[in-house]
Amino acid sequence: MIYLIGFMGCGKTSTGIELACLLGCPFLDTDQLIVDREGMSIPDIFAKEGERGFRKIETAVFRDLSGDTKDAVVSCGGGAVLRDENVILMKKSGRVIRLSADARTVYDRVKGDSNRPLLMSPDPLSRIRELMAEREEAYSRASDITVATDGLTPAEVASRILAVLTK
Ligand code: S3P
Repeated sequence: MIYLIGFMGCGKTSTGIELACLLGCPFLDTDQLIVDREGMSIPDIFAKEGERGFRKIETAVFRDLSGDTKDAVVSCGGGAVLRDENVILMKKSGRVIRLSADARTVYDRVKGDSNRPLLMSPDPLSRIRELMAEREEAYSRASDITVATDGLTPAEVASRILAVLTK
């Protein structure tokens, strides 16, 4: 498995689709797997079950993925690194690649998107900075490799990842 981790708006999904195409393997997205499993949107899960409930479902998805024998590129929700169990499962079953971006880049990519409950704030840029700082250590501890995505297209990021993987 190749797990793409990193903050919201770092391009995990768009890069993951490109990378899966280059590698000729399936692409999976933990948020999409959660939505399929629950039959509800991410904002509805947060509203109904809270962040705690969402994280429980997310871990159940990681348990399933790590037991899957078929390789895939997996785009992981931005908060997946917050639970040690998820990180242990990822490390045990694949390579963990972190995508990074400046807070401003993230803001430009996610503004106007109502699908991310944690950024529903009167001042989303400050919220992004705050959450990024809180999570920095968890991202760096969880990852084998980091690729900065500022100013790059998803195809460019994917080919950089491929270069590292095949080195
Ligand atoms: C979250 C990131 C989202 C989604 C949920 C929580 C987070 O995924 O899992 O809204 O805690 O950073 P993306 O990183 O794909 O936006």
